[in-house]
Order: sequence, then structure tokens, then C-alpha cells
Amino acid sequence: MKIRAAVLEEFGKPLVVQTVDLAEPRAGEALVRIEACGVCHTDLYTASGADPTGYTACVLGHEGAGVVERVGDGVTSLVPGDHVITLFAPECGECLHCRSPRTNRCIAIREQQGLGYLPDGTSRLSRAGEPLRHFMGTSTFAEYAVLPAIALAKISPEAPLDGASIFACGLSTGLGAAMFTAKVEEGSTVAVFGCGLVGLGAVAGARLQGAERIIAVDLAEGRLAMARAHGATDTMLAGEDVVQAIRDLTGGYGADYTFEATGNVGVMRQAVEAAREAWGLATMIGVAGKGELLEVIPRFLITGRRVTGSSFGGVKGRTQVPLLVDRWLAGEIDVASMLSHRLPLEGVNEAFVLMERQDGIRTILEMR
Ligand SMILES: NC(=O)c1ccc[n+]([C@@H]2O[C@H](COP(=O)([O-])OP(=O)(O)OC[C@H]3O[C@@H](n4cnc5c(N)ncnc54)[C@H](O)[C@@H]3O)[C@@H](O)[C@H]2O)c1
Ligand SMILES: [Zn+2]
Ligand SMILES: [Zn+2]
Repeated sequence: MKIRAAVLEEFGKPLVVQTVDLAEPRAGEALVRIEACGVCHTDLYTASGADPTGYTACVLGHEGAGVVERVGDGVTSLVPGDHVITLFAPECGECLHCRSPRTNRCIAIREQQGLGYLPDGTSRLSRAGEPLRHFMGTSTFAEYAVLPAIALAKISPEAPLDGASIFACGLSTGLGAAMFTAKVEEGSTVAVFGCGLVGLGAVAGARLQGAERIIAVDLAEGRLAMARAHGATDTMLAGEDVVQAIRDLTGGYGADYTFEATGNVGVMRQAVEAAREAWGLATMIGVAGKGELLEVIPRFLITGRRVTGSSFGGVKGRTQVPLLVDRWLAGEIDVASMLSHRLPLEGVNEAFVLMERQDGIRTILEMR
């Protein structure tokens, strides 16, 4: 079929929205009519050429939500009409990692996905007979996409698909980091560095876990106001003295749990140092630049702080994303406040400009 899609033709150049060909789903795959797609930093990171694993030409986009149109042979977990969220982190349910409750790092299709192909090593995307590669196994800056069924989470049909889209990456990443990676305990103290979509998700996740005190840190007052709306009890402007300020607010020790959601390695260090002596857990979520290192003074670890990282919030996509969506539908997460701008697919480059200006939390592309 012919579809409209945003193609990364050349690094550092605007994406080109054009008509491309999308083949029918093969065994184990599904065709999804994409309704909405958030524009995330990773799309821009790859488009800019900064990502060393990036490639052209491909259809970008990974924060998608839509409706299943058709399924390929052998797909029993989805039927046409199902509402789904696309998963750049799939869940096959059978691999070594999927069988462990400790991680969401499914290894079933990783290799081909990283190269830009579906699990059988081919692409469903093409133009003029030449293959065009997929991106993150999703390619959702498009009217339709073909994905492996293990990369689709079936959600409640009650969930509006515009809001559902941000559960495909940023929001679930933040929520999950607090709920599944760090497993914040009731009554604990939490500090979140960076209050974009990911950090706000971590604030909301800590609140849902019953944290007593949630300290949010950002460079922008507007973002701190949003953090308060999502559950932060204290806020502070970023700076060199925030580690001491967090200790001062937590009886001199630091927070039980800290989260880094900026991608700045200097802030990551602050997150480690603001974690409490004896048992503080610092969770790195932000993606650092190529070659950058996190500096940690070993004494901070000897005295009991722990450092971990979180990919897609540790969320097992097919089983846990639908549960997060249900908590939104139950009124426990204010998703509407995170959807800042709505643009058609043609506005994808404008969405990148808005992101660079930090104008709004998330821009949503609406495909029709
Ligand atoms: N681990 C994952 O699976 C995963 C998934 C999605 C995004 N990410 C990463 O998470 C990070 C955050 O994503 P986002 O969409 O929320 O980004 P964003 O740009 O919307 O938000 C980042 C926030 O950090 C703030 N900030 C910048 N410098 C700061 C400082 N020195 N101290 C405190 N705050 C500071 C900014 O003001 C901004 O509000 C990015 O690095 C992104 O690439 C990781
Ligand atoms: Zn993303
Ligand atoms: Zn798996």
C-alpha cells in the first residue's frame, strides 16, 4: 500500500514527508493504522547524525499509538480493531530476559531491529522498488506501520490514542523508572533531576508508589510548576548547590531514591551524590552524549549508595504498559497536561524546532 511517511534522507537535514510503499504484514507481524505519535529526543538525536548507530534512509518515529488493521500468519494475540501502543522495547515472553522478572531487556529481535529490519531480516518499507529501513523497529512517523506482534501492547479501547502515544516512550520511561526499576517504597524521599516528560513521569511514578517527599530539580520555573502539579512536594532551581540543598531537606543524608532525566553527565553525578548514604539508589535515565563518562567518587559507593540505569523504565511492554494506561484511565496520571502541541505529519520538522526550544512537554503528530 501507499502511505505518507517522514523519511530521514540525510543526517542534519529536515525529514522529508513523502509517499512510500508499505508491504503486507508477514508471519508474526501486524499492520497498524497509526493515529498519533509523540516526537521524542531520540528521533532528533538520530536525525541530527549524533547517534553513532544511526543510518539513512529510514522512516523515523517510535512513540506511536494506533489500531490494528490486519495481522500476518500465526498472530493470535492481536485481532483487527485492537488499540495498540508501539514498543521499541518488545516483549517476546520467551527469551532469557523476558522470563526473568528482573528486566525488560528482551533479546528476541534485537540484532535485526538495530540494523533497521524486521525480525526476518527484511524491510516492509520501500520506494520505487528500493528498500527503505525501519527505525527502532517502529517507524511511526507514518500513516501506517508494520511491526512484529511482540512489539505491540494491546491497551484499553477507552484510552484516547493521542494521550496513549506518550506511553510508547517518554511517559512510561519515567513512570517505570520509579515503579519498576527503582521500586520506590512507600514513605520514602525522592529527588528527580530534569522535569521534561521523562522526569515528570518519574515524579508521577514516585507519587503512585506512595513517596512522602518528592523533590524536583530543573533549570526552568515553568517545568518546576508542572512537577508540582504531578506530585512534587518541593522544587528547586538547578545549580551547583542542589546536592547540599537536597541533603538539607532530608535530615542531612540525601534522598532514598534519585532519578536523572536530563542526559547531562554532570547532573548524573549530582544524582549519585544526592542519594542517601547507606541505601540511596540513583537511577540514570537520561541518554548521555557519545563518549561522555559519569564520574563517581568510589567512597560514595563504599558508604552504601547504589547506581543503576533504566531503559524504557524497566517496563515489560506487552504486560505492563496496558496497566500504566489503566492507571491513567482511573484518573491517577494527568496525561492531558503533557500534550503541548498537535501537528499533522507534515509538521514533524516544526516539532523538532519546538523541542529544541523546550516549547512544551510533548508535540503530538496526528496522522489524520
Ligand atoms: N532511558 C530511556 O529509555 C529513555 C527514554 C526516553 C528518553 N530518555 C532520555 O531522557 C532524557 C529526558 O528526556 P525528556 O524527553 O524528558 O527531555 P526534556 O528535554 O523534555 O527534559 C529535560 C529537562 O531537563 C532539564 N535540565 C537541563 N539541564 C538541567 C540541569 N543541569 N539540572 C536539572 N535539570 C536540567 C531541562 O530544563 C528539561 O526540563 C533525555 O536524555 C532522553 O534522551 C531516555
Ligand atoms: Zn523516545
Ligand atoms: Zn524476550
